[in-house]
Amino acid sequence: MTTVYLNGEYKPLLEASINVLDRGFTFGDGVYEVIPIFNRTLFRFDEHMQRLENSLKAIFMENPYSSIKWRSIFEKLIDTVEQSEQSIYLQITRGVSERDHDISLADNPTIFAMSRPIVKQELSAGINAITHEDIRWQYCDIKAITLLPSVLLRHKAKQQGAKEAILIRDGYLTEGAASNVFICKDDEIFTPPKNNHVLPGITRDLLLEILASNNMSYSESTISEGALFNADEVWLTSSTWEIVPVIKLDNMPIGTGETGPLWQTINQLYQEFKSGYC
Ligand code: PDD
Repeated sequence: MTTVYLNGEYKPLLEASINVLDRGFTFGDGVYEVIPIFNRTLFRFDEHMQRLENSLKAIFMENPYSSIKWRSIFEKLIDTVEQSEQSIYLQITRGVSERDHDISLADNPTIFAMSRPIVKQELSAGINAITHEDIRWQYCDIKAITLLPSVLLRHKAKQQGAKEAILIRDGYLTEGAASNVFICKDDEIFTPPKNNHVLPGITRDLLLEILASNNMSYSESTISEGALFNADEVWLTSSTWEIVPVIKLDNMPIGTGETGPLWQTINQLYQEFKSGYC
């Protein structure tokens, strides 16, 4: 039975419950994080904590706990799961109030965390993706729990036999429904710059760090829809997927239609970094 953390208590998942007037439930008024655990080690913990801090600040909330306290909660949860590869899901909502948009009515956040095994999907042969207009809002840099657009986008991808929707805003690539995007053209690597239309992915930033430390050049620059379709390779990054090659976009092959050589190199470097870290 999964153990979860809810408002100061550890309890079996089925015994954890919240008030139906929680603003997370009525308004989607909250933020979350997903932190991968490899070899029972919190991967890039500080970076995830910093993003949490930024998300909370952006929705006018304070972080209820110090990083030390968060770490101790996560470590307890990790110990309750058998598998060594897990991911922590943590969610903070503005708490319970009458159903009124006014945020000053809520002063006691709801704090929830759990750890789950990462179910490894075999994605190294590459996945299919679709393109779709970016139908989300203007604050995509906040890791908000309000994810209906992303849920619908993933569903549309699935309906078309694909695993991810790659989003286009005003003719330019932003990111995936739940991943960041990289493209390669003539051995050059590109990813869109961070702004309010893109979640600052921890895996994205780590990949850039790994490229820099291996003297591989890259550019954070706008990528047109045409450049996306013309790429030799397209990769998606996220904490749970790591780096996944896209081999077909809207049913058309990317490059040769197979996993590319640069992905092989980058993925190897990423796996080496992970082993060293954990
Ligand atoms: N999502 N962009 C979006 C919109 C995301 O939802 C995610 C991750 C990413 C990648 O960020 P990171 O590398 O920090 O995981 C980019 C998580 C995994 C989720 O919602 O489950």
